[in-house]
Amino acid sequence: MSRQADRIIIFDTTLRDGEQCPGATLNIDEKLVIAKQLARLGVDVIEAGFAFASPGDFEAVSKIAQTVGTEDGPVICSLARARHDDIKAAAAAIKPAAKGRIHTFIATSDIHLEYKLKKTRPEVIAIAEEMVAYAKSFTDDVEFSPEDAGRSDPEFLYQVLERAIAAGATTVNIPDTVGYTTPSEFGRIIKGITENVPNIDKAIISVHGHNDLGLAVANFLEAVKNGARQLECTINGIGERAGNAALEELVMALHVRRQYFNPFLGRAKNSEAPLTNIDTKQIYKTSRLVSNLTGMLVQPNKAIVGANAFAHESGIHQDGVLKNKLTYEIMDAQLIGLSDNQIVLGKHSGRNAFRTRLKELGFELSENDLNKAFVRFKEVADKKKEISDWDLEAIVNDEIQQAPDLFKVELVQVSCGSKAQPTATVTLRTPDGEELTDAAIGTGPVDAVYKAINRVVNVPNELIEFSVQSVTGGIDALGEVTIRLRHESRVFSGHAANTDIIVASAQAYVNALNRLYAALQQEVKEEVTA
Ligand code: KIV
Ligand code: ZN
Repeated sequence: MSRQADRIIIFDTTLRDGEQCPGATLNIDEKLVIAKQLARLGVDVIEAGFAFASPGDFEAVSKIAQTVGTEDGPVICSLARARHDDIKAAAAAIKPAAKGRIHTFIATSDIHLEYKLKKTRPEVIAIAEEMVAYAKSFTDDVEFSPEDAGRSDPEFLYQVLERAIAAGATTVNIPDTVGYTTPSEFGRIIKGITENVPNIDKAIISVHGHNDLGLAVANFLEAVKNGARQLECTINGIGERAGNAALEELVMALHVRRQYFNPFLGRAKNSEAPLTNIDTKQIYKTSRLVSNLTGMLVQPNKAIVGANAFAHESGIHQDGVLKNKLTYEIMDAQLIGLSDNQIVLGKHSGRNAFRTRLKELGFELSENDLNKAFVRFKEVADKKKEISDWDLEAIVNDEIQQAPDLFKVELVQVSCGSKAQPTATVTLRTPDGEELTDAAIGTGPVDAVYKAINRVVNVPNELIEFSVQSVTGGIDALGEVTIRLRHESRVFSGHAANTDIIVASAQAYVNALNRLYAALQQEVKEEVTA
């Protein structure tokens, strides 16, 4: 990627660092769907995974490189520790991409050197230099990260960066791995690098940060003011522990406050040219897709994409907004694609209209997925007169959610009420094609359904999160259910949408159980082959 000092490069790591949070695990098809949407969103770089981590990770990076890494598409990147076998795997996985990047890292803080790596500073410098050069033998586009840079000795950091750049790194990324720094400290680290690394003009300065103290976005914005030109972020801020810096917050801060940031990028204060390549109208849709597929819910008061981000409750605010939006709104909901929700289809709409609208919304489904989605659309349209774009997205997201099809919900029946003991009967089709029916009583209808399902599936698990949200307003709205369950120390998520929230609850639960069941089957397979 050419150095563009007056523009901010958006490096999305939803599929790598974002996917590292418990329960957010995505399968290859889901990663591909997200990668395609990230390309539509306009990110410059997709960190598609950590190719060496597992055969599944390798395949995901490689498929994304093949499908999304086109000439005019984003750069496709794989993470690699500073080790030969990691870098080799990363190089092979990104090979199909028109533009591929290897991102290699080694820790530089004293605490990591002493306890994790058990290496001296000169040893770390030598490894960084050697591994960047090795990565460079596969691709020109090499990124180097000194892990835990936020807590590293600046003088040592300067030396490592200088040697990494001399060895061929074209991007040097400064991670605040543990989310420890404050904005002014982080800004000073970036300024120090620009002033003390003699060959820094040969590389782009990138930043990466975690949100343990809720400061990641603020830190990045301070970094931009001090010379950072690439931001590593995730959709909805998902990621390890408290997550990563949120893409939507960074992009909208740079957009809404561009007059403030312009001079730091050498532009005229009033320049209207966008500071990033992001198509902001795709933000809301991308946020929903990532939330649905990962099962990581967006808190209602989350900046930019939370359900309340554009809602005005207080009378004073409502009055002001009615008189002039600008009294209490700093950005229009339309900017993030929030109010593009049109009523487009109904019960009598045909396949062609369905396919055309999906295409306009950016969904390109295989014939098989289209058929499945059309059947679901007809079922929903029978119950709900008007189908909006958001309903269509919920239907399609449900169909393309690739939870393995092991157990299938065939029937859900509940009886409940103020004087009744909630009772549920469920019929599931098992992976062997057998139909099994069982019944249970519970504290409520969903509890009864879940107990009946557990009697059939018979894999111990603990429900740790259950949430119902309506896709649109109105009594006939689709209800989206997201659940997360735990088996031993692992978390699995499930998601489903239906006009009947009990049915959606059953489907979401079975989706999560299918992921759990598939993971257990995989473990057995690996034990047998070991
Ligand atoms: O947080 C971190 O330090 C990372 C590096 C691998 C960039 O994710
Ligand atoms: Zn990270």
